[in-house]
Amino acid sequence: MSKILVLNGPNLNLLGQREPAVYGSTTLADLEQLCRDAGARLGVEVECRQSNHEGVLIDALHEAGRAVKAGTLLGVVFNPAAYSHSSVALFDAIKGAEVPVIEVHISNVHAREAFRHHSYVSAAAAGIVVGFGVDGYRLAIEGLVRQRRG
Ligand code: DQA
Repeated sequence: MSKILVLNGPNLNLLGQREPAVYGSTTLADLEQLCRDAGARLGVEVECRQSNHEGVLIDALHEAGRAVKAGTLLGVVFNPAAYSHSSVALFDAIKGAEVPVIEVHISNVHAREAFRHHSYVSAAAAGIVVGFGVDGYRLAIEGLVRQRRG
């Protein structure tokens, strides 16, 4: 069975209680279950991780790159959260690890503050899903499977 990593960045552990008008009432645990269910429908195992630390996210991307090369992982569905707008290191990690990444944002970042309009990750991403709420993760999982399985 093929596998996908769903990787969530800083503050996404607060989903459900964090600015519900922007991010909705789904908790991270609910979201991760949604992802596992979406994967199961496609015959794909979904592993979920969340970290508030940039270096931990970078290490996870490197590990994912190795797994993709070994043929045990299809790629990563990644919400880099606020690091999207600041992290050249995440861009470099995706490029360096040569890992297929679908970038997800729950909210429509382009309809929000100007500092959210640019993402360093987008230029390294194989696809981007923005503004569909938590359903964007399901769309990203489906898109990644289609891209990778052809
Ligand atoms: C976010 C958008 C980012 O701008 C923000 O910093 C987040 C969440 C989203 O999913 O909409 O933490 O990535």
